[in-house]
Amino acid sequence: MRSLFLFLLSALIFSCSSPKEDEYTVLMPDPFIGLNLPNTPFNYSDIDLPAHYTQNAFPPQAQFQREAISFDNTPVNNSVTNAGATLGRVLFYDEKLSANGTVSCASCHQAAFGFSDPERLSEGFEGERTRRHSMGLVNARFYFSGKFFWDERAASLEEQVLQPIQDEVEMGLNLNDLERIVSEQAYYPPLFEAAFGSETISSERIGLALAQFVRSLVSTTSKYDLARAEVANPMLDFPAFTAQENRGKTLFFSPIESSTGGAVNCAGCHVSEAFVGPIPNGPIGPSSAINNGLDAVSTDDHGVFEATRNPNDRGKFKSPSLRNIGIRPPYMHDGRFATLEEVIEHYNSGIQDHPTLAPPLRDNNGNPVRLNLSEEDKAALVAFLHTLTDYNMLEDEKFSDPFQ
Ligand code: HEC
Ligand code: HEC
Repeated sequence: MRSLFLFLLSALIFSCSSPKEDEYTVLMPDPFIGLNLPNTPFNYSDIDLPAHYTQNAFPPQAQFQREAISFDNTPVNNSVTNAGATLGRVLFYDEKLSANGTVSCASCHQAAFGFSDPERLSEGFEGERTRRHSMGLVNARFYFSGKFFWDERAASLEEQVLQPIQDEVEMGLNLNDLERIVSEQAYYPPLFEAAFGSETISSERIGLALAQFVRSLVSTTSKYDLARAEVANPMLDFPAFTAQENRGKTLFFSPIESSTGGAVNCAGCHVSEAFVGPIPNGPIGPSSAINNGLDAVSTDDHGVFEATRNPNDRGKFKSPSLRNIGIRPPYMHDGRFATLEEVIEHYNSGIQDHPTLAPPLRDNNGNPVRLNLSEEDKAALVAFLHTLTDYNMLEDEKFSDPFQ
């Protein structure tokens, strides 16, 4: 009897509820209308970093290695908060942040491609192409130099994130327009209030929030991370890896000597278990940017030289994190390599004799090193690089488009 009553009651509620809900949304627009945000913000601030991010377990001879956490570039005035990163997420996916409302940060930094772009050069708001290939954003938090862009021209992430918005090709706004457009959207004042304690909208706050969201993109659940958690140090074979992946890992973490001297040490330039660029003033040189021998002569892109005007910086580029590298071709600052096989062939046989070529990449006669890797070893390096893809992270709702 009681269950029949409940059944009738719920049938009654069910039949009334849908038209009522429609009426509600039409009559009383929610401030977050069009936004798919959770009532309680996702956790961005209190991330459990695995031990291999917090402790350096490389052998002592790998002097250039550090624990990733010691590279953290978070400034004291902008630690990641849940409300701040939530605001950053909305800004990151908001196409209104471009002159004609067609392009967002996510247009060129797509989660499914490691927050990079499968296009060699990205399309800006008016269909023009960017000068360089878009960069993956995962583990941006761990670049020790704290510098951003291929030529490291932005001194901090806070400085970087406002530049694409003002770029003539990318988003085409000035900061006044940006502040006006953001102020005009009903969903922003409560998000600014939650993030900064007041509804005041300024480009500075926009930059802080965007930087928080980008810094929250940390990869800790790739095949590499899960397999690594089972062993005490990264040099040991990982039980969860295939023999080929373990072989590739050994090649990656130990200098590959050439028969005429010199060595390619992948881990020397793709450092720590966050796989980021090296510490400046370390064995690789004064800057964290490096010339890895793509060209014998710099012609249309002079890299870090364009920012510093120091001739020693000509042809040097930022060494980006290799996290998610397997799913974000094409490769290098100009996207010249379509596959990881081509990248490995570059280090194997293609290094060019540029005046600023990284010294370890020269042999005893001063020529660029030639490795003569076997086909098996090349394939093993590629297999290892694929273990750095973090599908769990890239598909996580908290990093996804809140407008969908
Ligand atoms: C039209 C495409 C496009 C848009 C839109 C865009 N970017 Fe980029 N992004 C790029 C390209 C291309 C580069 C590399 C440019 C260079 O180095 O000169 C880059 C580089 C970066 C970097 C440097 C990463 C590193 O490791 O040094 C960050 C961070 C970044 N973008 C964040 C953003 C944010 C935040 C937004 C939105 C406010 C945005 N981008 C909008 C294409 C784009
Ligand atoms: C001497 C330093 C150095 C060494 C050694 C080195 N790299 Fe690099 N790597 C770089 C730099 C710098 C770049 C970016 C160059 C550019 O785009 O101009 C790069 C780029 C890459 C990229 C493309 C990244 C992207 O986002 O497009 C991959 C993949 C890569 N390296 C893998 C390796 C592997 C594998 C090895 C070992 C066989 C290795 N690297 C050795 C410095 C180095």
